Amino acid sequence: MSDNQYEKQIKKALRRSGLDFNVFCYDLIDSTNTEARRYALSGGKIPAVFIAEEQSAGRGRMGRSFYSPLRTGLYISLLLDIPDSDAVRLTTSAAVAVRKAVLQKTGIDLKIKWVNDLYLASRKVSGILAESVLVGEHRFTILGIGINLDTDFRQTELRDIAGSLGISPKIRPALASELIKDIHSVLYEEDPLRVIDEYRQSSCVLGKPVIFTENERSYTGIARDITDHGHLLVLLDGGNEKILSSGEISLRINNGELKS
Ligand code: BTN
Repeated sequence: MSDNQYEKQIKKALRRSGLDFNVFCYDLIDSTNTEARRYALSGGKIPAVFIAEEQSAGRGRMGRSFYSPLRTGLYISLLLDIPDSDAVRLTTSAAVAVRKAVLQKTGIDLKIKWVNDLYLASRKVSGILAESVLVGEHRFTILGIGINLDTDFRQTELRDIAGSLGISPKIRPALASELIKDIHSVLYEEDPLRVIDEYRQSSCVLGKPVIFTENERSYTGIARDITDHGHLLVLLDGGNEKILSSGEISLRINNGELKS
């Protein structure tokens, strides 16, 4: 574990906001989501947050890896006492919180691509991996977030897809504290419809032609709306409607604008 000053800085900022999280910072770890799972299974105190300078086995959705080189991004996982019964709500709320925190700390206005990728212009700069862990009879949620701050993708196969905010990684402790506060406030927001409204307003998918694959079948249509439950309503080319509820669907905007 790193004894870096970030841990203290973040703890202090959270305490000032009345949030009692255990905070763990690492120089290098396989994956903060994996560490959160190990910690929960070993009976650690929850809520807790795990932040790494570098991940050797960062994980993304759909079995993908998440490129996490040293000190170029914020790699953070929150372990929360929330059941995963509404996974879509959790991930849409987390996306709203990431957008809010980035806007607040950098002035950069990200757009959300359903369900939980964040884009700057045509490049993905942040992703969210929501998982759960069963400890005895109790299920906890792990929300893992990666934000590329000044990651260089030129030598990687992600060079045409991924991007960075283009800001100094020195912002990490301030951004991490803001993000934890924002996640906490959106998840416990009294009126979840307010969060969904914010999600809709930040969407870069609505009104756009989309292509997605479900059960090995490909569909095209127009993204019409995001329901109050965070599901995506697509008007298919044949005239039928389809409601997408799973983040395991790979969705592309069908004009080459956004890839994932
Ligand atoms: C995605 O874009 O598919 C989700 C990426 C999630 C990456 C973050 S980085 C912190 C946490 N630890 C991981 O191994 N993954 C998440």
